[in-house]
Amino acid sequence: MSAFRSIEWLEGGIVRMLDQRKLPLETTYNDYTTYQDVAQAITDMVIRGAPAIGAAAAYGIALTAHHSAAADLDSLYDELEVADQLLRKSRPTAVNLFWALDRMVAHIANFKVSTENGSISQLQSATLSEAHAIAAEDVELNRAIGKHAMPLIPDKATIIHHCNTGSLATVDYGTALGIIRMAHEEGKQVMALIDETRPRLQGGRLSAYELKAQGVPFKVIVDGASGHFLRTGDVNLCVVGADRVVANGDTANKIGTYNLAVVARENNIPFYVAAPTTTIDMATATGDEIEIEERPAHEVTHVDASQITPDDVAVANPAFDVTPAKYITAIITERGVVYPPFEENIARIMREK
Ligand code: MRU
Repeated sequence: MSAFRSIEWLEGGIVRMLDQRKLPLETTYNDYTTYQDVAQAITDMVIRGAPAIGAAAAYGIALTAHHSAAADLDSLYDELEVADQLLRKSRPTAVNLFWALDRMVAHIANFKVSTENGSISQLQSATLSEAHAIAAEDVELNRAIGKHAMPLIPDKATIIHHCNTGSLATVDYGTALGIIRMAHEEGKQVMALIDETRPRLQGGRLSAYELKAQGVPFKVIVDGASGHFLRTGDVNLCVVGADRVVANGDTANKIGTYNLAVVARENNIPFYVAAPTTTIDMATATGDEIEIEERPAHEVTHVDASQITPDDVAVANPAFDVTPAKYITAIITERGVVYPPFEENIARIMREK
């Protein structure tokens, strides 16, 4: 387990989140008791990373039930629906948000039909236990991803990683960064090249923070340096996470992932996506249909409080891009490593349990 938790539920109905906006310089935990504040924390990126966002939304539902003053179950069902609708608007790209909320909705619907004369306190327990299950399963999925990835990592490996996909981006352990961590823990000689990941610097701030704490050797590089290292730096592989993998294998991930994948292909370096099946969206056929979040201009014009551009410049700030499946060597999931043809092989792995 990591020394910190991205998110946890505290006795009495509190959701505690490590404020990732303040890392690595300040370790601050924020406590939330309403779904509105949880939704805002997701939008503001107090918590971020696809699996962590999913867990936060699930706890947002449990929190709503816990603090409800509803007089009867029907009123509580209505309140939970309002919370669900607001949480769905918090960020658009990571499918884990919608996956977790769909799972909570299904659990509540199941409670409704299967529990005759159920009580409000039973529904409170049911929502909390489902949110806890989502959180606990995420940690297991991440470790399984790491295990499936180990044969792909040479005993001595230089690995490029983009954004932050570690314990902070998940409930614990991490996906792509979890693979790097596991390789190190298994005694492989790993050197991670960590893209700093403009504009919010999830690599330079968060991945560096995690790898440093774990004692994994790494260097932070500017995003523009990855091409240089892919051409000259004896890089063995790239591994990144995902916010949404769609049915044909196209993958939305942090802005800059597409550039990395294309340059990796140009240099014949394997490019892996590590993602739990909770990040796979079978209802979307191709990457062109994924909504790409546009974030505020100040993320580009400023670093923290410091302005780095002239006043009043026009800005475009897409938070994610889509890497077409043809650039992806394989997708590493908790159920195994999926190779092309992705359409067929993703469908197969999604049918397995
Ligand atoms: O905008 P962010 O920081 O939420 O973006 C995070 C990423 O793009 C991650 O790579 C992705 O969510 C996978 S996290 C295991």
